Amino acid sequence: MVEKADLEIRPERAEDRAVIREINRLAFGGEAEPNLVDKIRESAGFIPQLSLVAVRQGRVVGHILFSLIEIRIDGRSDQPRAALALAPMAVQPDFQNQGIGSALVQRGLEIGRDLGHAVIVVVGHPEYYPRFGFTSARAKGLESPFPVPDEAFLAIELVPGSFHGIKGTVVYPSAFEDVT
Ligand SMILES: CC(C)(COP(=O)(O)OP(=O)(O)OC[C@H]1O[C@@H](n2cnc3c(N)ncnc32)[C@H](O)[C@@H]1OP(=O)(O)O)[C@@H](O)C(=O)NCCC(=O)NCCS
Repeated sequence: MVEKADLEIRPERAEDRAVIREINRLAFGGEAEPNLVDKIRESAGFIPQLSLVAVRQGRVVGHILFSLIEIRIDGRSDQPRAALALAPMAVQPDFQNQGIGSALVQRGLEIGRDLGHAVIVVVGHPEYYPRFGFTSARAKGLESPFPVPDEAFLAIELVPGSFHGIKGTVVYPSAFEDVT
């Protein structure tokens, strides 16, 4: 495990962009996720404070991105609710399983809460995200716009009561087109 004191979590800077691409490429083994990060960064849904890097001994070794999405409430095409998507996140393979991903998720949840965001949705490893408080998105009334198993479609409420009365479908912006 990396000691907290040895790990800095901070918003990305312009000079981090190349290494963020490289970490995503190495962690996922392809170009889809590096491209996704670049597309989200250029989109209206990008939130600079929520593109976070993990820095160890001066080196960026992990990255997480939360960006704006919408939840279209059933029967109401107007007034969608704003939410965040957690996607993608990646830790450089040599540094995985040392708590770096967890530190990125936890800091992201704190910042998201501080910024007043209500809900975060993630499509990802069913064994990983529940430890941070994510639970079944469908059980909360959310539907995915593409087929995804129940156990991989997860959400967390940052503002208590945000899911109350929600029944709707997540709408991903066009930046996500190649990965959804
Ligand atoms: C998933 C990932 C971001 C986790 O980061 P990390 O720094 O390795 O995670 P942590 O050290 O905080 O946590 C380690 C835990 O994550 C689990 N984990 C790591 N990769 C996992 C995977 N592919 N599927 C499920 N669980 C995974 C480990 O088994 C470990 O579980 P344990 O604590 O019960 O032993 C990192 O492994 C990674 O970059 N993987 C490849 C890219 C990826 O899958 N991104 C997420 C897409 S949803």
